[in-house]
Parts: sequence; structure tokens; C-alpha cells
Amino acid sequence: MSETFFEVAGLNTWFFTRAGTFKSVRDVSFSLRRGEVLGIVGESGSGKSVTGMSIMGQVDEPGRIVSGSIQLDGEELTTLSFDQMRHYRGRRIAMVFQNPLMTLNPLMRIRDQMFEAISEHESMPQAEMQSRCIDALRSVGIPSPEDRLSAYPHELSGGMRQRVVIAIALLLNPDLIIADEPTTALDVTIQAQIIHQMRRQIDERGLGMIWITHDLATLSELADRILVMYAGAMMETGTTADIIGSPRHPYTRKLLESVPSLNVPGEKLRQIRGSMPSLLSLGAGCPFRDRCEFATEACAEIVPERVFSPTHRVWCHHPIEDER
Ligand SMILES: Nc1ncnc2c1ncn2[C@@H]1O[C@H](COP(=O)(O)OP(=O)(O)OP(=O)(O)O)[C@@H](O)[C@H]1O
Ligand SMILES: [Mg+2]
Repeated sequence: MSETFFEVAGLNTWFFTRAGTFKSVRDVSFSLRRGEVLGIVGESGSGKSVTGMSIMGQVDEPGRIVSGSIQLDGEELTTLSFDQMRHYRGRRIAMVFQNPLMTLNPLMRIRDQMFEAISEHESMPQAEMQSRCIDALRSVGIPSPEDRLSAYPHELSGGMRQRVVIAIALLLNPDLIIADEPTTALDVTIQAQIIHQMRRQIDERGLGMIWITHDLATLSELADRILVMYAGAMMETGTTADIIGSPRHPYTRKLLESVPSLNVPGEKLRQIRGSMPSLLSLGAGCPFRDRCEFATEACAEIVPERVFSPTHRVWCHHPIEDER
């Protein structure tokens, strides 16, 4: 297995608003090897996107990285200026968002947008740029890529637009791609095709990938490892088999029970009762305790880390030891 090339340690990203401090990402740590997909899963507001934006060096005001380290091949990214980060963005770390129109300019042909993405970091003859673009489009399953190059974004279907965005992310052969709900808006058939093609690109190019989603079913197909987040904190992390096959955190178990295709046949699908606590008033205790059927008074205390195996870790006072 290849070496770790990317590492996030003790990341805290907070938003300082007039209403108070929103602790959106609290003490999050993970690492990634080449050719590996880490899925980050959690309900809306759990801090997934802020984690991605922190890595990209693009946390919006009034937010900032308060502490922690983000290293790519041993180089610290959190201390780089916005301009210094420009060198990494696109070239070594690329991001794909849920809405392709956040990336694509509606007034520019696909060719010009792709050329621009390349020339920001590298100079090469037009013909070489053209063939690199065609290769990238083909690698994500776009038929007759030559013709698509002269299209405007609105002339393509939603699925095709998202493939173009992924092709742009692949253009400069980055080390890491962060994909934030990239297929959520697409229908399931297209979603499955794109996931299949992504997995192939990751394996062939040896990229690392962080796939952010609220959908554990997608991760069961794509991810090597999964990090479950809740209210900005890590709840559980493990291999996909650890998380889907033997979840140890009551929250992970609840998430799984709410996914139709992963649910035990015959069992009822269950919504998780209640809602996430305010990120303004989080103490040291488990943020899930108010919604957890196993919670005791102890859960208001600092949450211990429980190590179930070299790959499987859980932050919980009362993890599921074995079938209860
Ligand atoms: N610009 C901002 N100003 C203030 N607070 C913010 C800002 N952006 C994010 N937050 C806070 O961070 C929390 C986590 O946001 P984030 O976008 O990371 O959630 P998410 O897990 O990606 O959710 P979703 O599944 O809905 O995309 C938000 O609920 C909000 O409280
Ligand atoms: Mg998000």
C-alpha cells in the first residue's frame, strides 16, 4: 500500500459572527494515500464543506482556520497566503462542487474554459492543450469530446456539465480532488456512471480523493475509508467495511438505518429524531447525546476515543460493542 501523502491534523475552523462563534469544524484529523477515496459523510451542517474549503484555503469571511495542520507531501498549507495557495489550487488540489455552474462560466465555450484552467499553471502549444482537453473529457465518459469543446455550458445536460467540471479538475493531474456532493443533483443512473468513471480515474492516475456526501449508499460503492462527522466533530472512522458492516457509533448506526439500499431487509427505514445542536453552544460532551438512545450523564463529559482496530476508531462514551 502506498504512503500517506496528505494529512489533516487537529483542524478547527470557526466562524466569528455577531451572533457568536460557530465552531463548524472541531478537531478533525485524517490522512489519505494515493489511489484512495475517503468519504466524508454527515447530515446537513455537520461541517463537511467547511472542511473541504479549509483544505482549499478558501474559507469565507468571517471564518478562519483557528488551529490545526494541513500537509500535502509534508508541506504545510495552512500558513500559506492566498496567493501562495493559488499555486496549489487547481494544479495539485482540485475541487468539484455540487453545482457545475459554480465552476463553469455560462458565457464561455468549454474549450476556452479548459484552456484557461491549463494556462493558469502551465504554458504549452494550442494543439497540445487541445489534445489534453480531449483526453480529459474522454476519460470521464464524454462522447465525441471534439464537438463538446465548442459548446457552451447551457448546451449540455446536467450530467454532461458535471463531467466537464470533473474533466477540468483532472486536467492538471492533481494529487488530490475534493468532490463536494458532485452527483447529488443527478439522477441515479448518471450518478452511478460518473462514480464508476471516477473510481477508474483514481485507480489509473493514483489520485487521492475526498468525496463529501450525505449519502452512505454512494460511499459503499466508491470509498475505501469513511469519516462520519456530526456537528463539526468526528464520530467514527474506518474502512468502508468497518463503517457499513460493523458501525460502532450509535449515530453511524442511525445513519445506516435511514438508507434504503443498506437497510436490513424487512427492517423499517427510520428517520433520525430531533435536530443537530447549535454550533454556538457546543461543550466538550458528545454533540449527538440529545438524540442518542444510549446517552447517559457521562455523555456530557469529554468524549473518549475508542480504538476497535488499526483502521476503526470511534468517539463515543457508549459505542456498540457487539450486537445488542
Ligand atoms: N459563511 C459562514 N458564516 C457563518 N457560519 C457558517 C458559514 N459557512 C458555514 N457556517 C457554519 O458551518 C456549519 C457547517 O457548514 P457546512 O457547509 O460545512 O455543512 P455541510 O456538512 O457541508 O452541510 P450540507 O450537507 O448542508 O452541505 C453551518 O451549519 C454553519 O453554522
Ligand atoms: Mg456542504
